[in-house]
Parts: sequence; structure tokens; C-alpha cells
Amino acid sequence: MLKEIFWGEAIKLASPYPYVLAVTVDREGKPNAIGLGWWTYVSWEPPMIAIAVGPKRYSYECLEHCGEFVLAYPAEDQWKGAWHCGTVSGRGRNKLAEAGLKTVPAKVVKPPLIEGATVCYECRVVERMRTGDHELFIADVVAIHGDPGKPKHLYSIGYEKLAALSHDELRTLARR
Ligand SMILES: Cc1cc2nc3c(=O)[nH]c(=O)nc-3n(C[C@H](O)[C@H](O)[C@H](O)COP(=O)(O)O)c2cc1C
Repeated sequence: MLKEIFWGEAIKLASPYPYVLAVTVDREGKPNAIGLGWWTYVSWEPPMIAIAVGPKRYSYECLEHCGEFVLAYPAEDQWKGAWHCGTVSGRGRNKLAEAGLKTVPAKVVKPPLIEGATVCYECRVVERMRTGDHELFIADVVAIHGDPGKPKHLYSIGYEKLAALSHDELRTLARR
């Protein structure tokens, strides 16, 4: 039976959410990655993605400076490094190296792709909107990369746990 619950409880109850990394570069060109649950597709044609980033994050500064990001779906075998990116700030340290995540140059944008990820979207910010205590960075997708051999990727359960799922492990309920 439905009952009134708190915001934090609802967010946990409504999980899992696809957990992604947004890779940016800082003023010195050093790549950094932030773990994100608050992101969404916002247009099919042209393809567009929005991410919500808190202004205290180092990634916020990097986004302001470079105006581009790579949104990467880490694969199951990258869970440790992906979790590190969501729990430690990259300010003054090389978070990607600590996380054991290797990068490869992107096709169009300055931030690199995460090698071994399931999907990477290269994104260029076209608009920003302050939303309470976060800021929405709305971006055009300018190039797309994927590895069908790495279908199992990550989901966050609340903010405490990560899980991995592939399409085959989900119970199909409707089909077109
Ligand atoms: C499951 C999970 C989801 C998260 N989602 C977001 C998010 O959507 N937006 C955000 O600003 N921070 C989010 N965070 C927190 C950042 O990943 C975290 O503060 C990170 O250390 C920031 O790194 P940076 O300072 O290098 O940018 C999330 C963390 C976790 C564990």
C-alpha cells in the first residue's frame, strides 16, 4: 500500500539507476571522471544528454572550463574504479590512474574515452540550467562508441551499492 515517504527513501526505493562516469579535462588538460546517477537522454534527434553536477565537485570546474564531457557506461569488470570515481574527488590527484581506468583519445572532444567501457558518448555542452543545489549541463552528442562484447554494465542502488546487469539477466515482461 502506498504511504507518504521521505525524498531520500523514495530515491532508494526507486533504484537501481544506470551509473555512469562523466569524463572531463581540467585547465592543465588532466582528465578526471565523476560518478553520476543523475543524468538522462533529453532528445532523440538530434541526440542530446543532460547531466546534473553539484557546484562543489571538481568536475563542475572542469565542465565550466572545457564545456565538453564523455559520458561512459563502465563495464562490470570496471566496478572498483567506477566506484572510486563516485566517492573521491579528483581535485589535486589523478583519480583515473588511482581507479585503474585507462583512457583513449576521443574522436571529437578533448576529454578521453574510458577504454573497456560498454558505451561512450562524446558530448558538447550547449546549455546550462541551475536546478536547486545542482546544475544541469545539457549537451549535444557528437560521437558515439560501443562494445557489444561488454553488455554487462553498472547500476546504483541508493548511494550505497553498485550492481551489474546485462539485458539477458532481466525478466522480459513486454515485447514489441
Ligand atoms: C551512486 C552515485 C551517484 C552519484 N551521482 C551524482 C550526480 O548525479 N551528480 C553529482 O554531482 N554527484 C554525484 N555523485 C557524487 C560524485 O560522484 C562525487 O562527489 C565525486 O567524488 C565527485 O568527484 P569530483 O570532485 O572529482 O568531480 C554520485 C555518487 C555516487 C556514489
